[in-house]
Amino acid sequence: MNIVNTCCSTLALSATMLCAAPTPQLGILTPPDGNAPRINGTRVYGVRPGRPILWRLPVTGKRPMRLAAEGLPPGATFDAERGVLGGAVAERGTYPITFTAENGDGRATRVFKLVVGDKIALTPPMGWNSWNCFNFAVTEKNIRDAADAMVSSGLVNHGWQYVNIDDFWQNNPYRFKDDATLQGAERKPDGTINPNARFPDMKGLADYVHAKGLKIGLYSSPGPYTCGMCTGSWGHEWQDAKTYADWGYDFLKYDLCTYNRKNFRKGMYSHKGIAGDSPLETATLPFRLMGEALAAQKRDIVFSLCQYGQVSVSSWGENVGGQCWRTGGDFRDSFPQMAKIVRAQASLWPYAHPGAWNDPDMLMVGPISIGGIGTVGMTKTHGCTFTHNEQYTHVSMWAVLCAPMLIGCDLTKLDDFTLSLLTNDEVIEANQDELGAQAALVAKGPRAQVWTKPMHDGSLVFALFNTADDATRIAIDYDSLGIEGKWLVRDLWRQKDEGIYGIKYSTEVPGHATHLVRLFPKEDARLAEGVTDIRMNSVYIQFEASRPVDKPGYKAPKSYPCERCDRLNAK
Ligand code: GAL
Repeated sequence: MNIVNTCCSTLALSATMLCAAPTPQLGILTPPDGNAPRINGTRVYGVRPGRPILWRLPVTGKRPMRLAAEGLPPGATFDAERGVLGGAVAERGTYPITFTAENGDGRATRVFKLVVGDKIALTPPMGWNSWNCFNFAVTEKNIRDAADAMVSSGLVNHGWQYVNIDDFWQNNPYRFKDDATLQGAERKPDGTINPNARFPDMKGLADYVHAKGLKIGLYSSPGPYTCGMCTGSWGHEWQDAKTYADWGYDFLKYDLCTYNRKNFRKGMYSHKGIAGDSPLETATLPFRLMGEALAAQKRDIVFSLCQYGQVSVSSWGENVGGQCWRTGGDFRDSFPQMAKIVRAQASLWPYAHPGAWNDPDMLMVGPISIGGIGTVGMTKTHGCTFTHNEQYTHVSMWAVLCAPMLIGCDLTKLDDFTLSLLTNDEVIEANQDELGAQAALVAKGPRAQVWTKPMHDGSLVFALFNTADDATRIAIDYDSLGIEGKWLVRDLWRQKDEGIYGIKYSTEVPGHATHLVRLFPKEDARLAEGVTDIRMNSVYIQFEASRPVDKPGYKAPKSYPCERCDRLNAK
């Protein structure tokens, strides 16, 4: 049994009553950045041959600091002043580059792999998106401010790099007729998309963000209109992909929205390719089209699919050119919803690997504003209503699930607690590990769940998630999980070793919180015989569609036919 209850035993009524007091909340756990240099973030970066490289070296420590890069392949450059890797490399290959950061307090080095090949987003994208805080009121100034704040807050030193515009950079002819900033020709006579008056210079904006060594993203829909009824890419997919590339954009979130509307299907906007011969073909078609268009451009553009997890998107998102795909609907700051979303990810780990990520939606932390719909210019922000403990669960679980981490709050209003959640390098490392292994649910009880993921160096990260309202003792029981010997247990949030444990490790986790530990192999440590991947013991290895296509009579396939999955299904 992996999960042990202490305080509020489900069996003992008196104990339950004793625990009626509000569960204590965790404070800031992340230690402050040290003065000595520390190189953070991903250790591996994918780029296609000849495509521009842009990556800012994330380093914490006291400035001034000297930065250097050794072993650059022909074509790659390193701007030591700005700490930005650039240029373009024509030859395919894996190039180790050694970065050095030095100041009066110390010196740090790190070997980084530049992988020139077909894959990009070799670790989950980390950045910010405008929707959860600015939604339909977003302006160019919000984007510039977010880029500025990503640097001034220090987030950039921990690996955050994308600044993404969501819906509402385009015109909106029907829904927001009264908002003059959203009116105007949707496209130029030659079909080129027009941004709205709030975004007068999309290229200038991209240049501004790039000048900071950051990347920039935007949003569209395969339908004629986006979810907010701004102009979508319907019938202009290749033209739009080229426009985004010409402007210099690095990321596209492509949101199904009106593509699937019933009236649309009935012929209001007719298109013979809309319904494929099978539900799978129907679902993949619009994304395949844009995926091909993006891949043909002269710059790498991360393709983020948003169709809310329909038709087992995890099983085909990568095949249509996607690097990440939403696994469900919109995430809000509700604990029951978060618990449900987390649970729904349990079957998805076989689909995640470098360049292919399941996306449970953006981070709901800090000052956000989503919720109300219907007023133009809604900018009222409220603090995220998750408790501190729940925010630890949120960030911990998104980290181990290898989720794209896109901060949803107004970066200009970051409070210390939120910043501490986003700047813990050991937690971020769990998300950015080069193995790209998504956590699986390996033990569960009525009050808690144990999730685990292997890391590239043979260590294992465990998330001990207390789903109950009050404290629960949660154990990592080596025998039942298939691990042997002694392991050094390190608390990732506090960045502290807890000690060496054999047989079992257990700790008390406050209500709704998650304790994140990394186990490093010590004496006789190994996986038990026959266990090649700690996740093989997953308690949830069926592969089912998260949401079936809305076609009468359609039955989602029970399992996904792939070698790895068949083996697991057969267990
Ligand atoms: C939703 C999407 C949100 C946001 C919004 C914009 O469909 O899930 O994340 O992009 O559209 O209208």
